[in-house]
Amino acid sequence: MESIKIVGIVGSPRKGNTEIMVFETLEGAKAGGAETEMILLRNKSIKLCDGSGGSAYEDDMEQIIRKMEGAKGIVIGSPTYFDNVSGLLKNFIDRTLPLHETGKLKDKLLVVTVVGEADMQSINRVVDYLKIFGEICEMKFVGSVTAIAGAPGSVREDENKIQELRQLGERLAEVIKKVEEVKKDAV
Ligand SMILES: Cc1cc2nc3c(=O)[nH]c(=O)nc-3n(C[C@H](O)[C@H](O)[C@H](O)COP(=O)(O)O)c2cc1C
Repeated sequence: MESIKIVGIVGSPRKGNTEIMVFETLEGAKAGGAETEMILLRNKSIKLCDGSGGSAYEDDMEQIIRKMEGAKGIVIGSPTYFDNVSGLLKNFIDRTLPLHETGKLKDKLLVVTVVGEADMQSINRVVDYLKIFGEICEMKFVGSVTAIAGAPGSVREDENKIQELRQLGERLAEVIKKVEEVKKDAV
């Protein structure tokens, strides 16, 4: 069978909890047989969406878009910032407009991980927003993991959370495999 590619998008501007959460989800996906790649948005040049929806920005977005096109599954991780995703991630999402307009995200499987320091209600709003993004792009939502952690890296102290993230990633890989088998049988 063709290899299953899963791309993880890390939406925090710092090295902290979001990165750990996406990393562990991808570890689970690897255990489930997927080939994975983690993209740290903070290390990429992604110009501010100028409202044109165009592709003449000459930055790293084109390369990221190509990786997303080639993936069957997408993991999106965000910190909670004032009940929403980080500005870094929101701008990234806005820049995916060409992918959405050409239907290139359709039927890709999506999982999300969200961390906040205190407030489950605000963390869940971020999950809901990312689900809406997935719906708009006609992606298929597989699941989410949320965590409460403040200091950078402190999410790693919760071993159960790490297991939950790995299980989410493994489930994503398993669901992709099943979908691919069904597609193959239908041919
Ligand atoms: C600008 C800003 C806004 C924040 N807003 C919230 C919030 O609304 N709710 C919450 O639970 N945590 C909030 N936090 C805390 C972060 O979500 C938390 O520290 C998280 O662990 C950061 O993830 P990271 O380590 O991946 O950057 C905020 C932090 C910052 C910097």
